[in-house]
Amino acid sequence: MSRQTAHGDVRDLALAPQGVRKTEWAGQEMPVLRLIRERFARERPLEGVRISACLHITSETANLALTLQAGGAQVALCASNPLSTQDEVAAALVAEYCIPTFAIKGEETSTYYRHIHQALEHRPHITLDDGADLVSTLHKERQDLLPQVIGGTEETTTGVIRLRAMAQQGRLRYPIIAVNDADTKYLFDNRYGTGQSTIDGITRATNILWAGKKVVVVGYGWCGRGVATRARGLGAQVIVCEVNAVRALEAVMDGYQVMPLLEAARIGDIFITVTGDIHALDAPHFAVMKDGALLANSGHFNVEIHIPALEQMAQAKRRVRPFVDEYTLHDGRRLYLLGEGRLINLAAAEGHPSSVMDMSFANQALSVEYLVKHGRSLAPGVYKVPQEIDHQVATLKLASLGVRIDSLTEEQERYLRSWEAGTE
Ligand code: ADE
Repeated sequence: MSRQTAHGDVRDLALAPQGVRKTEWAGQEMPVLRLIRERFARERPLEGVRISACLHITSETANLALTLQAGGAQVALCASNPLSTQDEVAAALVAEYCIPTFAIKGEETSTYYRHIHQALEHRPHITLDDGADLVSTLHKERQDLLPQVIGGTEETTTGVIRLRAMAQQGRLRYPIIAVNDADTKYLFDNRYGTGQSTIDGITRATNILWAGKKVVVVGYGWCGRGVATRARGLGAQVIVCEVNAVRALEAVMDGYQVMPLLEAARIGDIFITVTGDIHALDAPHFAVMKDGALLANSGHFNVEIHIPALEQMAQAKRRVRPFVDEYTLHDGRRLYLLGEGRLINLAAAEGHPSSVMDMSFANQALSVEYLVKHGRSLAPGVYKVPQEIDHQVATLKLASLGVRIDSLTEEQERYLRSWEAGTE
């Protein structure tokens, strides 16, 4: 049987059958997205819409792409990180699902940006981004494409921070929905998704025992909370380092030890950065770490651990296992950098579990539909996910889990709208 094949740049098209099985497996854990896909197939709300999406190329992302395709969109994909691509899924997208995909696990930075440019060649009406590299490239190097762009979505905290900076400087030229900030995204994906998948990535890379280890979590945002919770659950002694006083106080009352990173650096066995900022772990920390310390990052970019400083301090470097690089310092101490400092949950494991991506990507699909309907009337800027979408995702997810909840009586609704009644 002949089959049309989309173009793209992937490692090996022969991996496609494996990618299909993996995508179908993930799809079984994505019931909310499945419902949206079925409705999209009936209603075709994205007919003729071209979408360029820069996302981690995983089996969950494949399910999102298929949902958008079912709605009538023509989708092109590129990777949002050089080390997060699942090559078999990329092959399936091109060879089986007819979705042009430009992504190879381990690609060089130059190839990564070439792939972004190739996805932009699709001339998008809508952009989907995870980290804002596509949007930033479009604004810096492909302004000719701007007039036809209706809007975009952004998946992650780091991307939203960059977009807000662009908007503040008057540089953002179209409306973008911050999917990250939906309650049904960050409360689940950032916390439970990052929590589990970060531990998963470090475990797969190293096969360490967590029980009894001193784990230093750097950053106590939603991702940091998730990582700290799961590390504690495995029996680790968790230390939190955080620059924001309110968050640090929360960490204290959540029962963690809280201290400056330079102090934690002397005692930690495993360091995990989830700050969204640059050089959280730097030369002064490396200088005092114990022999054998593990360094991992689960923030979006590979800048949280200052790798050039580590390289400079090292006398020797060798790869001891996949995703584990040993740096021997001048005094003989060995520090182990995991996943080249890129997000360890996607580099050494498979990213967040499908069940949590179900909610994130349901928000994505419904936000795209919203933009196609309303985007032309929105001024450039960063927008919240409409509350109806957030609620719809929560309601459908609960239903898929077989969980029923109560609703307010009319009397209770009325009471909440009133102010006259007080102490009785
Ligand atoms: N980000 C984190 N985990 C992911 C996954 N499994 N798929 C796509 N993006 C992700």
